[in-house]
Amino acid sequence: MELTIFIIAFCYIQRTLCFDATLYKFPNDFSFGVATSAYQIEGAWNVSGKGYSYWDYITHEVKVVVEDGSTGDVACDSYHKTDVDIALLKRLGVNHYRFSIAWTRIYPTGMINNISRDGIAYYDNLINKLLDAGIKPWVTIYHWDHPYGIQRLGGWFQPKMADYIADYADLLFKLYGDRVKTWITINEPYSLCVNAINVMAYIPKGFAEYMCGQNVLRAHVAIWRVYQKYRSTQNGKLSMAFNVQAHFPATDSPADIEAAERLNQFAFGWFVNPVVHGNYPKVMIDTIASYSEKQGFKESRLPPLSPEDLADLKGSCDFIGLNTYDVYLVSSNNGTVDVNPSYSNDCGANIIDPNWNVSYAIHMKAKGLGVLLNWIKKNYNNPEVRITEQGYWEDARNVFDFDRSAYIVANTAQMLKSIYKDKVNLTAYSYWSFMDNFEWNKGYIRKYGLIDVDFKDPTRKRRLKLSAGTFSTIASNRKLI
Ligand code: NOJ
Repeated sequence: MELTIFIIAFCYIQRTLCFDATLYKFPNDFSFGVATSAYQIEGAWNVSGKGYSYWDYITHEVKVVVEDGSTGDVACDSYHKTDVDIALLKRLGVNHYRFSIAWTRIYPTGMINNISRDGIAYYDNLINKLLDAGIKPWVTIYHWDHPYGIQRLGGWFQPKMADYIADYADLLFKLYGDRVKTWITINEPYSLCVNAINVMAYIPKGFAEYMCGQNVLRAHVAIWRVYQKYRSTQNGKLSMAFNVQAHFPATDSPADIEAAERLNQFAFGWFVNPVVHGNYPKVMIDTIASYSEKQGFKESRLPPLSPEDLADLKGSCDFIGLNTYDVYLVSSNNGTVDVNPSYSNDCGANIIDPNWNVSYAIHMKAKGLGVLLNWIKKNYNNPEVRITEQGYWEDARNVFDFDRSAYIVANTAQMLKSIYKDKVNLTAYSYWSFMDNFEWNKGYIRKYGLIDVDFKDPTRKRRLKLSAGTFSTIASNRKLI
């Protein structure tokens, strides 16, 4: 395995980095981990009192959203495989494991008069066994699978979502906060509000995204407020898992350079700016207000946050959780104001998939990570950053996944450069995903895992891929070679 890593590292360094990452070792407290989410791996969709969730509804009733028509009913069956999965995590040599709690296993209907003891016991056991194995549990409170009952009340378009999620988070802190020291409040607010609403018909674009965003920020700050009751005794750290891709301007033209910067602000700044600086990015406020006026609306389509929320949002993050996967080229739409409002018109940036060959794409993805980390350092006062997700997909089963291995090596080299040369305060890396799983609209077609899962096999047999070896060698040695 070392030889493979050496060859990939050597080629990568030769090609690009101008930094010999093989000379450096990750700091002792740098944490390596892998990530999953409940709906994507647990299965057992109606077991032990679990309630019906939004994604149960999407996969059972809306159906068309998922390309292969599949569901997460069984998924990787991780609900029944705690010991098997923990043994595999040990083989990977991880320091932490990021997983999410299914809201419907704790509060099956979403209402707090109805608690599931089985669900509570399941996560209790998982957390205890992880700790026994020397693995820190990183818990995502909300990874997209809220109770269907709450969806019927409006889901993320319902302002009361903040209260519902705060009650749920309160119970989680009470139950598990003595042992869980890293909490992710909400996973990928941008995907949730821009991509996920695409699965819903008849929603007013150019409003819905921002209403959802407003409610997500209110929900995050509501959870943050609740945690203050526990902070002095539990001493944990909280963040959202914010998502953004690396955006490179498609050309050297000032318009494209500005569009790439604007997209960073619209995609990432939309949520990070409020929690760091206490408001939406200025470019968002100004652009949406001016477009709204030109479109004849009386008020900006970006709904304001209340002064109380803004005050509490500022500084409501102990670190920046970063989910990032890809690199996009960005060109400007040259200020076209469409009569039909939408988030993407407001942003004024066209995203171009660069369609590079695999090895160049891998090189650019790693380079993009470095650019993004520097951008975060500059825009948010050099915060602690933890990569809460980064991963490589293929659409076919492939245990000899050389490309994924190369991707991990290239990004490892880049992280070392970011830490030692660029002095970025990067403290953790979580590979998405621990194992192949239910990939939302791509069902079981798209595979991100270090571990192959045979979804045709009733026992959901797991098998380590080549990339699992690459990852575990790096995580255990804490260096490239
Ligand atoms: C983002 C999400 O958090 C996760 O659920 C998803 O599977 C991966 N990225 C890959 O798309």
